[in-house]
Amino acid sequence: MHINVFPDADSLAAEVARQVIVDCEQAIAERGVFHWVLAGGNTPKKCYALLRDAELDWSRVYVWFGDERCLSIGDAERNDVMADAALLSHVSVPPAQIHRIPAELGPEDAAETYASLLADAPPMDLILLGMGEDGHTASLFPGNPALVDERLAVPVSAAPKPPPKRISMGYSVLNRGRKRIVMVAGESKRDALLRIRQGERLPVARLAVCEWYVDEAVSG
Ligand code: 6PG
Repeated sequence: MHINVFPDADSLAAEVARQVIVDCEQAIAERGVFHWVLAGGNTPKKCYALLRDAELDWSRVYVWFGDERCLSIGDAERNDVMADAALLSHVSVPPAQIHRIPAELGPEDAAETYASLLADAPPMDLILLGMGEDGHTASLFPGNPALVDERLAVPVSAAPKPPPKRISMGYSVLNRGRKRIVMVAGESKRDALLRIRQGERLPVARLAVCEWYVDEAVSG
């Protein structure tokens, strides 16, 4: 594990934002496009907001979501609503290049729809992920059947973090990505990170190699 430790959540967000810019410019230079997977939850908000003023060629950016909560379109608790407010409504990514998970369809139908999109997609250039207090990432939770579902997008039920019904990118997509960054901040995550460093294969630890960006409250 390569862990980058920062004094606080703000400095962590600033460094990840800088890294997104570097990776975006490199992907566009090499392949003409940047396929970027956004993380949900609260941790990435600061990073996304810092990217509002980034001088990137947003017309070449393709946005995907690592997971989505099965809530109505526009529900404030949806990850795409958070991403819109924090970043996407402030930059000029063509709407057709923002691939929202149609979670309003319910887990099975949404997963099938998203998987068909992912089947035609190249490897993601950068995948941003968070981690929960139980070591979940995206919507892949400990002991959940979704962990062993090999589909590109997997339906999730009985998630312990509300809402219970979700859709997640599966490990096959997450691990095919060229690069993964896991952003973790706050003392509440410290135990999970310790368990992972002691070798426990919590869901986030089953990912291919990741760059970890954590604050001191987590690393202890
Ligand atoms: C979600 C996220 C989830 C999140 C972690 C961390 O839908 O909730 O995809 O995986 O990244 O739970 O959430 P916080 O950043 O809010 O602590």
